[in-house]
Amino acid sequence: MRMRKKKWAEPELNSCPFYVPDPRAVRGKWNGQFPEAKPLHVELGCGKGVSTAQMAFDQRDVNFVAVDLISDVLGVAKRNIEKSYGESRADNILLCIHDVARVSQIFAPEDRVQRIYLSFPNPWNGRHRHQKRCLTHPRQLMQYREFLTDRGQIWFKTDNDALFDDSVTYLMQCGFRLIYLTRDLAASGFQPNYLSEHEIMYRSQGVKIKFLIAEKAALPVKTASLPEQTRASARPAPEMTTLCYIEKDGAYLMLHRVKKTDDPNAGKWLGVGGHFEHGESPEECLVREVREETGLTLTRFRHRGVITFCFEDNPTEYMHLFTADGFEGELTDCDEGVLKWVDKDKIDALPMWEGDRVFFRLINEGREAFFSLKLVYHADHLTKAILDGESVPLPAKRAPELHQNGSEPI
Ligand SMILES: C[S@@+](CC[C@H](N)C(=O)[O-])C[C@H]1O[C@@H](n2cnc3c(N)ncnc32)[C@H](O)[C@@H]1O
Repeated sequence: MRMRKKKWAEPELNSCPFYVPDPRAVRGKWNGQFPEAKPLHVELGCGKGVSTAQMAFDQRDVNFVAVDLISDVLGVAKRNIEKSYGESRADNILLCIHDVARVSQIFAPEDRVQRIYLSFPNPWNGRHRHQKRCLTHPRQLMQYREFLTDRGQIWFKTDNDALFDDSVTYLMQCGFRLIYLTRDLAASGFQPNYLSEHEIMYRSQGVKIKFLIAEKAALPVKTASLPEQTRASARPAPEMTTLCYIEKDGAYLMLHRVKKTDDPNAGKWLGVGGHFEHGESPEECLVREVREETGLTLTRFRHRGVITFCFEDNPTEYMHLFTADGFEGELTDCDEGVLKWVDKDKIDALPMWEGDRVFFRLINEGREAFFSLKLVYHADHLTKAILDGESVPLPAKRAPELHQNGSEPI
């Protein structure tokens, strides 16, 4: 169920003494943000902080950082923490907003995190088909390894059997040793166990909670004994995505990314599409993503090219670009932003990624041949564009975008 927008959440967080507005700025320096040095525990996807509030209050010998993607839920967490602490100062807990998919942007080995809590870490929209983007995926675990201490622990709870089983496999692949596991947490009598909002909900429905503790150990020999260069393959895998410009009456369907907090695309206009699921071809991914994001079923489309995105240390992304001019169904709301038909000649004026302008123009200017385009970014700026092996001029830089975050430029 989607939560109603809480207008008070962001202002309250911004004036809260235990909220960190720019967590990237304290990467590697979290311990210095607390009045006293203590072991550091981190909760990822803390939601409304129901368990966090009680746990941090009870465990005053530990410093906690609780992270979530959504300001509205974090605002509730802030209120729950204030309620737990009552008159006393919440000085061993800090809250911040960040996308855990990019958690290494906010924690470093110097933070010496001793424990990570992942409770019901469903993808942010909770759709089961997005399970592989879950916070126990190897892509995530390899990031956690970097800032967890040796023998640092992950405490993981879920209601979902398939997710639990997959997570056990992923943990072992990524050099974690299981030191505790139960498929019925309530019956196990394990203590201490702080009930989160979701644990309370699932228990009331009679769902058994799966729980494990995994400890950071050596990487499996197969991975650890390889030279550094080869070990890079154990780092986050490349990402495979699709993007589509759907055409109707001289306009393209564009998605204005204004719904998620800390969205790397926030404020930008994009085509529609998303990540591949296991075993999908580009066409299958395209049709599914378009249906999920727009409600439309594509009936005619064309594969136009492959774009290789290089973003410094982040995983390389291979994006299959499509155009479509046949579809059925009615446009629906999209979780990720606002959908709008935009006249083709107005699109270039929208806030877009610089690289998107390069391939958008190729499409819009009628390039017929399939192409391969490599786009190299440095700190959000396009530094190189290589089309079919040859460098091409970069689009002219634009004045800072005036229309980000919600306002309508068209
Ligand atoms: C199902 S709720 C669980 C909340 C809480 N841990 C509990 O057990 O009640 C999942 C939470 O994880 C957060 N979340 C999911 N993906 C995330 C991501 N990539 N980065 C940060 N938070 C995320 C969601 O916003 C949501 O609050």
